[in-house]
Amino acid sequence: MKLPIYLIGEDSLALASLRQQLEKEPAFFIEPRVHNYADAFDHLRSKSGPIVAVIDLNRDEERALAVAAEIKFKLSNVHLVMTSPDHDPQTLLRAMRSGAEEYLTQPFNWQEVLKSFDHIRKKIDVHSSSGRGGERGKIIAVSSNKGGVGSTTLATNLASNLAGRNKSVCLVDLVLQFGSVTSFLNIEASYTILDLAKNVKRIDPLLLDGSLVKHSSGVRVLAEPFYAEDARRITPSDIDEILDVLAQSFDFVVVDTAKEFDEMLALVLDKASLVLFVTEMDVPSLKSAHRAFELLERMGIYDKKIRLILNRYVKSKLMSLESVEKALGVKVFWTLPNNYPTAIAAVNQGLSIEESDPRSDIASSYAGLTSAVLEAFKYSGLGTTREEDEDKKSGFLSRLIPMRGLLK
Ligand SMILES: Nc1ncnc2c1ncn2[C@@H]1O[C@H](COP(=O)(O)OP(=O)(O)OP(=O)(O)O)[C@@H](O)[C@H]1O
Ligand SMILES: [Mg+2]
Repeated sequence: MKLPIYLIGEDSLALASLRQQLEKEPAFFIEPRVHNYADAFDHLRSKSGPIVAVIDLNRDEERALAVAAEIKFKLSNVHLVMTSPDHDPQTLLRAMRSGAEEYLTQPFNWQEVLKSFDHIRKKIDVHSSSGRGGERGKIIAVSSNKGGVGSTTLATNLASNLAGRNKSVCLVDLVLQFGSVTSFLNIEASYTILDLAKNVKRIDPLLLDGSLVKHSSGVRVLAEPFYAEDARRITPSDIDEILDVLAQSFDFVVVDTAKEFDEMLALVLDKASLVLFVTEMDVPSLKSAHRAFELLERMGIYDKKIRLILNRYVKSKLMSLESVEKALGVKVFWTLPNNYPTAIAAVNQGLSIEESDPRSDIASSYAGLTSAVLEAFKYSGLGTTREEDEDKKSGFLSRLIPMRGLLK
């Protein structure tokens, strides 16, 4: 598809010559009209899909930059190129700050001009090819109903190990009030899930890309809101749409979930193809886990996709794995060894355990867990069963309404 290019300026001879030149290029479609500063934004607002807008700053730099800033802030599908006869580095800097991805000085050097447009086109191609051609990725929810049992550790390490196996992975922090994924990975987000929730009807690959922050392991992270009080501005239906978009863009979407059972959690557990439920091997944790399984059953969450993970497992004469399985009525899917120094050293460096101490027992256990998860998708047909599809058709949010009493 040709990439549309819109020209914005006032009586601009430069833009007229740019149009003539770019019309010869088969990769681009140049809109014949040059829009002035006043009507450019309204015109662009009605367009969807990736667009390049070229703004000539020449007539009125202040106004042009103000238009650019508005476009950059509100229209995430528009890529800005700015041009001016002004070679002053200060002008270039201001243009970049107002959103210019390329800056072309006049008179044009045509070779440079074509390079700039090609650069933008390639960038857009990369973004759209990260779409998965309609194939959905798998959502893995990491859940637990007791504090401190290791769900964030599991979510971050599973996500980074999956990325290490050449999978594209997005890690979502759905502990919306006091999430800790960004501190576990020592990354700083510029945008959060709140930005996506506010624009939920027009999330496109560019907005999505800008909202995620990359960790050294290759995982892309969707951070929790900056302020705890903003958590309530995000609704289950926002999350529903955000997870759908992410599942279209990534092989795996790993979700760290909050401990309280509420509509949001119910929705996520329902949407997930796999739920890894984390607990520890002490009586209070196991009792809580038992109650959680009973609740999941009452809520009709498809039990075959739930896997029990025992974290900080140590062999004990008092309590065997078999007795745990019997008490909970669930098989243990994986045990992770107790290794606090290694677990905490990784967190303190903002690394995954694999990156921080690849020879440790816990790193090799996480490698085994990652393989087991991949195998589960390959051989147990997770996320493709008929029961699950039937369930999905009726829409979980609506099915949930008669069950709200259960959540109180
Ligand atoms: N296998 C393990 N061995 C030893 N320590 C571990 C292990 N897994 C996690 N930990 C440590 O246990 C602590 C709690 O882990 P984590 O924060 O992942 O739990 P959580 O369930 O997400 O807690 P929260 O309730 O705060 O969300 C952390 O200090 C972590 O480093
Ligand atoms: Mg946590």
